[in-house]
Amino acid sequence: MNMKINLSLLTLALSAVWADDGGWHTDEDKLLATPGPCTIEVRDAEDLTQEEFLSRYAFSQPVVIKGATDNSAFINDCKREVMLKKYGAKVIRLSSANTYSYRKVDVTLDKYVQEIMKPQTLGMLGNETFYWFGDNNYTEWQELFDKYIPPPYSLPGLTGVYSFGLAGAGTGVPFHFHGPGFGEVIYGRKRWFMLPPEKTPHFHPNRTTLQWLYEDYPELHPLDGPLECTINQGELIYFPDRWWHGTLNIDTSVFISTFLG
Ligand SMILES: *[C@@H]1O[C@H](CO)[C@@H](O)[C@H](O)[C@H]1NC(C)=O
Ligand SMILES: *[C@@H]1O[C@H](CO)[C@@H](O)[C@H](O)[C@H]1NC(C)=O
Ligand SMILES: *[C@@H]1O[C@H](CO)[C@@H](O)[C@H](O)[C@H]1NC(C)=O
Repeated sequence: MNMKINLSLLTLALSAVWADDGGWHTDEDKLLATPGPCTIEVRDAEDLTQEEFLSRYAFSQPVVIKGATDNSAFINDCKREVMLKKYGAKVIRLSSANTYSYRKVDVTLDKYVQEIMKPQTLGMLGNETFYWFGDNNYTEWQELFDKYIPPPYSLPGLTGVYSFGLAGAGTGVPFHFHGPGFGEVIYGRKRWFMLPPEKTPHFHPNRTTLQWLYEDYPELHPLDGPLECTINQGELIYFPDRWWHGTLNIDTSVFISTFLG
């Protein structure tokens, strides 16, 4: 009897951890990227005030923040079935997943999901991989964006602009930098690699983060290694102004960034 109860509790707990991929399933054998260690500070939003965010992180270092918002309404609309039904016919703009030369392609969301979005293989180059992140037409995506509760931290005088994305397992953007902001994972897991502005990483702008992980990362001297952390559903990462970062989606992932400018 006890055993039975324990087993069903265990099943319940495990399904809470694993089950909700929102329908964005990836076959286990297609997963080439793995989560790594977390060397970025991790904080609970409950214990992190806006004041401390400003003094400790905003201008000086990245931070992972747990439990900042309850985005369940938004998360529900990002399920595969819901997105295809509501928005499948919408035209989205894909970017090539390399550092500089962003080639763009317009396709319907339906075509992207059914035909283009695939787990990344090691042989594919970044400039030849198409990826949906950003270039979102705010008028067309307003209904969805209105449901998103943004990170409850801010930088003086700056406002947020959203970039929404959906991409296959193993995809990501190689090292680059821009202004400050937040990234949040809606489904899947995303591994972030970060370096301060003065520590330019060594990377080829057309190779993928996955190729970098397999070929360059193991060779790094410990002192040259980036800070890193894998972000799970509902977690935020803050990237300060001009910090280098490369991203890697472990699973088929849905994500949104709030760029501050
Ligand atoms: C992608 O980048 C590689 C290496 O830089 C280059 O050889 C190749 O021609 C590029 N592919 C396209 C489609 O531009
Ligand atoms: C990267 O690929 C683009 C085209 O996709 C090409 O124009 C550029 O020369 C490549 N860069 C390098 C460093 O090979
Ligand atoms: C955004 O979408 C609206 C409605 O479909 C359209 O009228 C507008 O031209 C689009 N804007 C851009 C910049 O593409």
